[in-house]
Amino acid sequence: RLFKNPFDLAEAIVDVLEDRLIARLNQLEPKPFGLATGRTMEPIYQALVSRLRAWPMQDLQKLREGWSSFNLDEYLGLSKIDKESFSSYMDRHLGTPLELAPDKLLIPDRCSDDPAKEADLYIKHLKSLGGLSFQLLGLGMNGHIGFNEPPCSSDVPCRVVDLSLSTRQQNAFSFRGELSRVPTHAITLGLSEILLAEEVHLVVTGEAKSQILYSFLHEPISELLPASWLRHHKNLFVWADYSAFSKVSLVKDMS
Ligand code: GLP
Repeated sequence: RLFKNPFDLAEAIVDVLEDRLIARLNQLEPKPFGLATGRTMEPIYQALVSRLRAWPMQDLQKLREGWSSFNLDEYLGLSKIDKESFSSYMDRHLGTPLELAPDKLLIPDRCSDDPAKEADLYIKHLKSLGGLSFQLLGLGMNGHIGFNEPPCSSDVPCRVVDLSLSTRQQNAFSFRGELSRVPTHAITLGLSEILLAEEVHLVVTGEAKSQILYSFLHEPISELLPASWLRHHKNLFVWADYSAFSKVSLVKDMS
């Protein structure tokens, strides 16, 4: 679906998320859902918080109690107090404003002594709860999703990964632009777990993403473009704004 700007897009996707969250209230054992970080998600979380805070208190309380989300990824090598971690991001954007208990808003432990074991425990926990219902995703400038960097096959599991220079440059904005402070490793859910989600919502906004969105839509599915595996998913929704779509429409106009 296509929107004029990220704010209109946020309201529309929050209509869907709200609908899914209402449905969970009435399910006996609702599955967890998957959340992402990054600038793309900020207007979405802002709109979601306003929407949910307007719910009747009783429903909001029920939502808090039943909340169960797994974040896609987390840096390694940051301390508990580092504000740049994805855990701090989630706390700022959702945890604190919605008063969610930290054990309901799950994310890999960035301080684990044994990151490989942490990745393993994280995925075992997710699987024990039945896997993901819906998954929100942003798109990396090199086509990564989560921190599944190219080249990446469709069957990789949750694991520890090296971050590419392009991804560290993309994310340096959160580290006051200092590339040397951006971690070199992370834990990420793998394509295998993402592709098993019941619904996948890929969100792409801003002109800087227009080239990669074009590639995502038009290039062959391959390891060189990790997001392209999503095109095999039966329930994939792509949400874009006009700026991100500009290259796609430009090429169409010229052809
Ligand atoms: C980051 C994260 C992803 C995020 C994506 C897009 O590196 N690992 O989870 O969705 O890249 O980030 P942004 O929205 O800031 O462009």
